[in-house]
Amino acid sequence: MADTVFRFGGEGGEGVISTGELFTTACARSALEIYTFRSYPAEIKGGHAMIQVRVADRNILLSRGDAVDVLVAFNKEAYDRHYQEVRQGGVLVFDNTDFLPEEDQRTIKYPIPFTKIAMEEIGVRLTKNMVALGAISELFGVPQGKFKELIREKFGKKGEAILAKNFQALEAGARYVAQNIKKKEQIRVAPTGRQPKLVLSGNEALSLGAIAAGLKVYAGYPITPASSILEFLAKELPKAGGVVIQTEDEIAALGVVLGASFAGKKAMTATSGPGFSLMVEMLGLAVMAELPAVIVDAQRAGPSTGMPTKMEQADLMMAIHAGHGEAPRVVMGLTSVEDCFYGIIRAFNIAETFQTPVVVLSDQGLAQREASILKPETAEIDILERRKPNADQLANYQRFRMTPDAISPMAVPGMPDGFYAATGIEHTEAGELNYEPANHNKMMAKRAKKLQGVLDLPWIVKTYGAERPEIAVIGWGSGEGVIRETVALAQETGLKVGALHPKILWPFPTKIINDYLANGVRKVIVPELNFSGQFAALLKQHLKRTDIEVISMAKGGGIPWKPGEILEQIKEAAKIHA
Ligand code: COA
Repeated sequence: MADTVFRFGGEGGEGVISTGELFTTACARSALEIYTFRSYPAEIKGGHAMIQVRVADRNILLSRGDAVDVLVAFNKEAYDRHYQEVRQGGVLVFDNTDFLPEEDQRTIKYPIPFTKIAMEEIGVRLTKNMVALGAISELFGVPQGKFKELIREKFGKKGEAILAKNFQALEAGARYVAQNIKKKEQIRVAPTGRQPKLVLSGNEALSLGAIAAGLKVYAGYPITPASSILEFLAKELPKAGGVVIQTEDEIAALGVVLGASFAGKKAMTATSGPGFSLMVEMLGLAVMAELPAVIVDAQRAGPSTGMPTKMEQADLMMAIHAGHGEAPRVVMGLTSVEDCFYGIIRAFNIAETFQTPVVVLSDQGLAQREASILKPETAEIDILERRKPNADQLANYQRFRMTPDAISPMAVPGMPDGFYAATGIEHTEAGELNYEPANHNKMMAKRAKKLQGVLDLPWIVKTYGAERPEIAVIGWGSGEGVIRETVALAQETGLKVGALHPKILWPFPTKIINDYLANGVRKVIVPELNFSGQFAALLKQHLKRTDIEVISMAKGGGIPWKPGEILEQIKEAAKIHA
């Protein structure tokens, strides 16, 4: 197999997501590369659920791909919604108990009565997804044994009787295909024989990275799509000597984090947009009291409750500016499942080094996406600790002492002579309350200046593609993979295209971006998933050259860009450019 996109669609609550997950894990355990995307309703039952997995035997998958190769439609709605995306010559596997598709020659169609088999042979309607899985195993060559092993892992706790029914359904689906379907294409999902990689979701990779960074206190309130961080850490963090607290709301969650940080512990919370809105007052306190804190915002489509289970990159401006007064903080964008591991370690390093809150932007797509990655190596990245006062500094301790880099040694409670008040009120270098404008300006300058050091870190942007591009693509956050893939495709067509991907979004990496663009770039395309083009606007504000055209590719609505869409825009820009 080269590179195949499988998509499963059907009624929410009927086990579509489970089917996709089992298929994904089977592929991953066959040492194939995987890249998933899911979109499902906010309701527990009802609505339309979809999960897709791109599977390949090559080294790295960067996006969800373009067209669908195989659509498994559990009902008519899935067919109606997704059939147009199936490529010419692709495959439609469908439940012909539920519907019959239009007659056309565009795709190969395999009708399989999932529901009828589940009802009549197994006697349990819910097992229709296992009938489908059995059919897929027979059609595309995934060994049935692999699925049985996984079904046991997933449904084992439901009891032997349920397991037996599921095994029967799997076998019935495979038998139906063997007896009734003539295979008309070459798609096969055959094990590679290589050593399987690690398969993690973005949230799992992030949680593991946080533990590796030395996280000791996690506080959070459940919210889609961040909840699985809370769930994962509740199980794993205590094993690493840490504590997880589920608070009454997000304000309290950040309060706990700041308290723990004041006490010298590395601390983190994770939420999504609505929860971040609540945290804003506490964020100001973190800035004022110069407390290290990591705050993850797994963005979802907003405003308000919005679309809780859909991705969007619309919290950028909020992450940078939220709060009253001027409260400088660091904002980072996580770019891939692998980067969720390394990126969160870097977030902790920045929080501790610069004594600042770091807002880490992930999103629903990245948080819940599984990818196969190499086992992370903590040896590849230093774990940094905050600056502590020495004996001389403690002798006349001033918590907010001015230093050349504006970062002050930070005492923790219990340190002899290191006591101080960490207040939200304006204070002097000694931490004493002070309302004088001159002091306020001095302390404002200190809080702003210390963050400039973040821009000297060596990893704050990544570049891809042509060294001297005429057209540049600059995205942010989880758009990295699809942009990287598209730039490679564009280069194959002879276009001089390059990409720069900032990992630090605030303070804005003005110099490094302008230096990159100074090398002959005429147009910059900015793909992002929000309605108004937030990053494009930010970029325009910071551009030195006014002759560069910024082309904003912005869309809200929850579905990530495809390589083909960005490629179209690059070609369009190149045409005008020529
Ligand atoms: N045998 C036994 N049990 C089976 C089964 C089978 N063959 N197939 C599925 N199931 C079970 C699953 O284990 C799951 O049970 P669980 O809830 O005890 O884990 C259940 O049936 C639903 O199946 P699943 O595959 O998880 O999902 P789905 O594709 O039908 O879609 C969701 C359901 C995921 C869309 C929905 O449940 C959900 O979680 N919605 C989002 C909720 C949310 O986050 N809202 C936002 C709030 S702001």
